[in-house]
This record gives sequence, C-alpha cells and structure tokens, in this order.
Amino acid sequence: MKVLLIGSGGREHALAFALAKSPLLKKLYATPGNPGIGKLATLVSIKVTDHSTVIGFCKSHQIDFVVVGPEAPLVAGLVDDLTKAGIKAFGPSKFAAQLEGSKGFTKDLCEKYGIPTASYGRFTKEAKALAYVRAQGAPIVVKADGLAAGKGVTVAMTLAEAETAVNEIFAGRFGEGECVIEEFLEGEEASFFCLSDGVHVLPLATAQDHKRVGEGDTGPNTGGMGAYSPAPCMTAALCAVALEKIVKPTVVALAEMGHPYKGVLYAGLILTKQGPKLIEYNARFGDPETQVLMMRLESDLLPLLVASVDGTLDKAKVSWRDETALTVVMCAKGYPGDVTKGSHINGLEQNFGAEVEVFHAGTALDGEFIVANGGRVLNVTALGKSPRDAQIRAYAAVDGIDWPEGFCRRDIGWRAIK
Ligand code: AMP
Ligand code: GLY
Repeated sequence: MKVLLIGSGGREHALAFALAKSPLLKKLYATPGNPGIGKLATLVSIKVTDHSTVIGFCKSHQIDFVVVGPEAPLVAGLVDDLTKAGIKAFGPSKFAAQLEGSKGFTKDLCEKYGIPTASYGRFTKEAKALAYVRAQGAPIVVKADGLAAGKGVTVAMTLAEAETAVNEIFAGRFGEGECVIEEFLEGEEASFFCLSDGVHVLPLATAQDHKRVGEGDTGPNTGGMGAYSPAPCMTAALCAVALEKIVKPTVVALAEMGHPYKGVLYAGLILTKQGPKLIEYNARFGDPETQVLMMRLESDLLPLLVASVDGTLDKAKVSWRDETALTVVMCAKGYPGDVTKGSHINGLEQNFGAEVEVFHAGTALDGEFIVANGGRVLNVTALGKSPRDAQIRAYAAVDGIDWPEGFCRRDIGWRAIK
C-alpha cells in the first residue's frame, strides 16, 4: 500500500516507525513530517488545511490510505472530504471528532448514555457560570469548550481561582466564550487507548502521561513531558470496566446519532473510589503516549488501522510486548512558554541500542545539523523489564545527547516505580 501520514510530531514519528515495519507498506509519504520521519518516509509539503490539495496529492500519487495524526485536521473534517473523494482515511469524521473538539458535546453524550464522568454544568453566559461556581464551591474544574491545546482547563482549589478562570473564558481567551464546569474528581489518572470501526472496539493499551512541566508534577501544564505503558494502575479488571461502561457505550452513542466513530478513542480516565470515570476523550493517538505504545506493539499497525476504516476490527488481533516502554520528552528551555528555535542538537547519530528509539518531535534540518524547532523537541524512548529498567535506559540515552539548550524532567515514571 502507498500511505500518506499527516503530522509532524513525535506521535507521527512513532506511527511512521510502526508503519515502516509493515510488510504491506509499499511507500510511505509524510506531510510535513520532520527530520526523524524523513528517514522512514518521503517528506512532502502539502497545505493540509486545503483539503482539495490533499485529495489532489493522493490522486496523483495513487495513495491507498491516509493516516491523520493530529486532532486539528480531524476536527476540520479532512477524513470526511477524503472519504467523499474515494480515498480511504484513518480517523473519525468531523462530527465524531467532536468527542475531542467539544467538551460540552461529550458531557451531554455521557449524561444521555449513563457513562461515568464528573457532574457538570454547561454555560454560554458568564453570570450563570459564576452563579454555578459559587453554588458548588471549590475545589471545582473550569474548562473552555473548544480545542485549547491542553491549556483551557483550570483545576481551581479556591473559589477565587474558579471565578478568574470563568472571567478569562468569557473574555475570549480561548475563542468563543463557552464553558463547562465540572465536579472535581479525585484519583490516579490513566489513559486507555482503543480502536473503533464504528461498531466493534479493539482495546489497545494503557499509558500514563506527565502533564506538568516540573519534577514532582509541579508548574504549568504542558502537552506531556513523558509517558510510559502499560499503566500499572490500569489492571485487567479496570480495563474491562472502562471498556464496557465508557468506551463501548460511546461507540453505540455515535452510531445511534448516525455518525459511527472510526479511529482511535483515547479515554482520559480518573480512577475514583467509585471506579474509572471519563475526564476527556481524544479522537487521535496521544503524544507522547503513542511513542511508548508503538515501542510495545508487536502486531502490524497498518492492517489494524485499515480494519478500523473497513469495519473489520472484530476479526483483528493485537499483541504487545510485556516490557514497559518509557519516554522522556526533551524540550527547548522556556517550554511551555516561549522558546528560541535553532539551537543545535548533537549525538543523535550514535547507536543507542536495540531497545531505545529517539523520536523527533519539534526538530528541523539546518544544513546537515539537527536543530530545535519547537517546544517539545525529542522523545527518548526505551523498553525495559520494569518501569525502573526502562527509565534507566531512557535517561542513559538522554545523557548521551548533546543539547545544552534543552531540558527534561528527571522523574518520568516515578508513579509506576513507586
Ligand atoms: P483535560 O484537558 O480535560 O484532560 O484536563 C486537563 C487535566 O485537568 C486532566 O489531566 C486532569 O489532571 C485535570 N482534570 C480535568 N478534569 C478534572 C476533574 N473533573 N477533576 C479533577 N481533575 C480534572
Ligand atoms: N499527551 C496528551 C495528549 O496527547 O493529549
């Protein structure tokens, strides 16, 4: 098959790493890709927001299958337009991608289908939102409705913080002012990844992320500073509960709405005393969770993604390595604030060993040099017999990379190791 992969992050490098191993793959293109992906795929420059250009490229290059990595093109309906043009594409439709694109949509769906989640209110008027916050009291969680790159959520421990968060949303900080206000849930967080073909669900694997920039889970939220898989807290029993009570009813709900969900369902869960509850859905693979998932994946990824589009996931099987995979995200100094681009990174060409992969996220080529080109820059990923083993291996590789302008958290995996 000829495949076009859309995206440029560590997630897409990890997907390219898995796709490149497929015996079914004849040719891999990626757009825009990055220098790491460029070693596995032919990089092409396509304006992804212009769907007719993407369709034109697929037709002229006889692309059999498109894999969409990030959420923005899904929410913009790229898969709908490719499908209409007769091109097979992996990922949910625009309607179904609302599971990620609109927190209000997901909360309403959960309520209607009895899916366990935090109780909530949904508001388009500031005064009503403030009245609700005051009536509920703190701690309470305030969320902007649309996509906000992980920055639209305030877990307010005091009423004053909650009020400020509401004020900011209605002042237009995240686009149109609509907000969801939620009950504060207590428990460990874990991510549960499944594939759906609109009818059948194939559970993939679990992972845990590290959202805060600083060691000990301190400082501002980020896109993710590191991850590991599996998540020890997600026992087989809890996975079964999450599958039956959360993911399967969601797939039923979307099918009943006439928009079957095809693609990855990435459920962000909090394991409360009453069992797993949904905090959010993502309509795509996680970043950096995909990096650890793809290290553990034994099966061929490509036919699994095709089965999600074809509706044949009931016949699919997936197997995973038993080891833990752990990834450390190396960032440019300043992240998640402003960063300087262009600093040189050396040492990437060395042999890190069979159980280590360095995935590129925000890198670029400057002549023959690899340079930093974003906030999250490299994902140093290792397999190990235990979380501790994988951690030691990943940091040994981190220490072999010469990049004075970079930094990382030194405690990725602490929860699993504890
Ligand atoms: P989200 O963008 O919805 O994933 O939220 C970002 C982070 O906020 C989550 O990873 C949680 O740590 C936290 N969070 C979100 N919703 C809740 C909730 N209802 N209770 C407690 N923490 C939450
Ligand atoms: N690492 C969090 C995400 O992909 O949304």
